[in-house]
Amino acid sequence: MLKAVYAGSFDPVTLGHLDIIERAARIADELVVAILENPNKNYLFTSEERKYHLELVTKHLSNVEIASFQGLLIDFANSIHANVAIRGLRNTLDFTSEFQMHLINRQLDTKMETIFLAADEDHLALSSTNVKEVATFGGNIDFMVPKEIREFILEKYKK
Ligand code: PNS
Repeated sequence: MLKAVYAGSFDPVTLGHLDIIERAARIADELVVAILENPNKNYLFTSEERKYHLELVTKHLSNVEIASFQGLLIDFANSIHANVAIRGLRNTLDFTSEFQMHLINRQLDTKMETIFLAADEDHLALSSTNVKEVATFGGNIDFMVPKEIREFILEKYKK
C-alpha cells in the first residue's frame, strides 16, 4: 500500500498545491496533506485556518486527509506510517532545493523516498508568497487560489 505525505506551509493553499494534491491522490492509496507549524515563522493564517482551507478544497477526494505537524518531516511520516513524500517542482530552482531536501531526508532515514511531480504549466508562476503579494495591493488572485478560499484571503487584507 502506498501511503504518501505531501507537506507544506500552505499559507495559503494555491491552485498549484491543489493540482499536486489531486494528482498525488490518484497515485497513492492514501495521501496525508501535512501542514507545517513552525513556531519561528509568521504565517498569514493559523494552522487551524490552513487546515480548514485544505479540508474545504479537498472534500471531493476520499483518500485525502489533512494533518498538522511540527519538527522533522521524516519523524511525522514515520509516525503515520507513510513511506513516500510528494513534492511539486515548478522550475530548476525548485529542483535544486527539493533535491537537497530529499538527500537530507534520505540521510536521516534511508527508507524515505520522494516522488516529484512536475507542476502544470498554468501553475509555474504560482506560490503562496506571490498570492500574498498580489492580495496586499488589491490585485486579482482568482487565477491563483481555489475559489472556496478567495474570500478568506481578501478578508485578511481588508483589516
Ligand atoms: O511550503 P514549503 O515551504 O514548500 O514546505 C516545505 C516543507 C514543510 C516540506 C519543509 O520545510 C519541511 O519538510 N520542513 C520540516 C523540517 C524538515 O524535515 N526539513 C527537512 C530537512 S532539510
